[in-house]
Amino acid sequence: MIRIQNTDWHSHSELLSRIRYTVFVEEQQVPPALELDEHDEHADHFLVFSGDTAVATARLLDDGGVGRMAVLVEHRGQGIGLALMSHIIDRGRQLGFERLHLSAQEHALPFYGRLGFIPVGDSYQDAGIPHRTMTLALNPGPRQAVATEHFADAAFTCACQARRRLRIFSQSLEPELYANTFLVGVISRLARRHRITGVDLLMCDDQPLREGFHPLLALSQKLSSSIELRVVDPIHTSESQHFSVIADDQAIFAYGRHKDAPGWLAVNSPAQVKEPLESFHRMWPQGTTSPWLRRLP
Ligand code: COA
Repeated sequence: MIRIQNTDWHSHSELLSRIRYTVFVEEQQVPPALELDEHDEHADHFLVFSGDTAVATARLLDDGGVGRMAVLVEHRGQGIGLALMSHIIDRGRQLGFERLHLSAQEHALPFYGRLGFIPVGDSYQDAGIPHRTMTLALNPGPRQAVATEHFADAAFTCACQARRRLRIFSQSLEPELYANTFLVGVISRLARRHRITGVDLLMCDDQPLREGFHPLLALSQKLSSSIELRVVDPIHTSESQHFSVIADDQAIFAYGRHKDAPGWLAVNSPAQVKEPLESFHRMWPQGTTSPWLRRLP
């Protein structure tokens, strides 16, 4: 059983800095001088206790910036990080923020993506570790508009929501959306997670995939029992105005089938998913496995 406590630097500086020193300085080799900064004095801090032991921390700044998220290594992978971030998201809403933002170490992108954070902008180095900025709209309404240049980031965040099945309906698994390392990592993890988890990839045209290496195609050939790829004749897809990434019955990223049409993202939103998911279920049986794509690399 864990307990999350809101606190401040003066009340708990020793516990807060001990966890951060262990994780960032000792484990991740961040220079100690970069670990502490002038923001600690004024930030909201959070401590997670397992029994009497403090095992995780993070802080929230007055501009909506979340940072110094650290779970002691022996307590990871048990949902503590997710519980802490969910608590901070609630706190952000209480404080009236419209949006939270953070600087994510790249290995943690799927962790924040799972909470609905979307990557923005390019990768950059901080303390020798590659990072990306991520943001979360706290009251986004049913659909968040997504500009064309952010399609790959929205597809990634949507895919992070899948616990059981991810479905992707696309023209031809366009590499600019579907070949990025982080998305492929999330799909690989989902496919290997359990015998009932998996990914259905439905595409209109497999010709472009025959012309070069595509990491999702390679992955589907390697994990063929949990990632299935089918090609559907466009005649069977005329009812669907959108291509989409659909995570279970919970999240969807959809974009118009014509170039430069806008896209939208909905997370934790079965109502937005319902109709596109039904449409996917109708199209999927019309798809066939291309003999060429089934060939092992
Ligand atoms: N691929 C896909 N999903 C991932 C993932 C990955 N590589 N890593 C995490 N996740 C997601 C999954 O949804 C996972 O849930 P699941 O195991 O049920 O699939 C969830 O995140 C794990 O959540 P949780 O167990 O709550 O995370 P945690 O308590 O281990 O904390 C960190 C996560 C990042 C805070 C922790 O690893 C940590 O402190 N790391 C060192 C410090 C650090 O890097 N901090 C971040 C600075 S930006």
